[in-house]
Amino acid sequence: MRIIICENYEELSEKGAEFFKAQVTLKPDSVLGLATGGTPVGLYKKLIEYNKNGSLDFSRVTSFNLDEYYPIAPDNDQSYRYFMNENLFDHVNIDKTRTYVPDGLAKDPEAQCKAYEALLEEKGPVDIQLLGIGRNGHIGFNEPDEKLNAVTHITGLTESTVEANARFFADISQVPTKALTMGIGTILKSKKIVMLISGKEKHEVLSELLNDDITTKNPATLLKVHPDVVIICDKAAYEG
Ligand code: PGA
Repeated sequence: MRIIICENYEELSEKGAEFFKAQVTLKPDSVLGLATGGTPVGLYKKLIEYNKNGSLDFSRVTSFNLDEYYPIAPDNDQSYRYFMNENLFDHVNIDKTRTYVPDGLAKDPEAQCKAYEALLEEKGPVDIQLLGIGRNGHIGFNEPDEKLNAVTHITGLTESTVEANARFFADISQVPTKALTMGIGTILKSKKIVMLISGKEKHEVLSELLNDDITTKNPATLLKVHPDVVIICDKAAYEG
């Protein structure tokens, strides 16, 4: 794993965005793996800026998001489909029919997960995957556990994740307790992985990631087996 330490969130967002810009410049029909949460918002703002000033063209890009709450409607303003539309897709020249997010309303969630994994096999591999990290080390919604899933699956959210995500909802009781998420194996199939880590509340998990061995108790440590992972963090996360 390579680590880039930035002065602040602004610099982290710009550095991260540069990786995506370079990827699409070199390969205009790239498959991007995208993430939600507070951390990538600044990176998406930069990508919108590049698209508006003509230096980044999304017209041939395909994208796959890591996860989606379950159950949730795509037009619910807390869904990850809604988040992606608001924070990126509605502002750039991407063909929305090629932006994939797991279907939070699927009648048969297991079948939806299988179909999502199959679609990734067909259109992938992901050229560059963006990741955030939970305070408990989760990536996507792969929460710490004795065993981790290799492929896309439906999962329950831990109490700490429900609490962390409650800030986006009117009330904690409204936070969905399940999600559809790519598995660890799905994520590791990406050719390149860029992980953004910002803020002092992520210091502990970042230290664990850098210093500890691989453990399913911190799912992000599984990234250590991948040959091309770049961690972009700010000083607040690095120094605590
Ligand atoms: P955050 O979420 O960027 O909102 O901290 C990261 C994550 O839970 O993966």
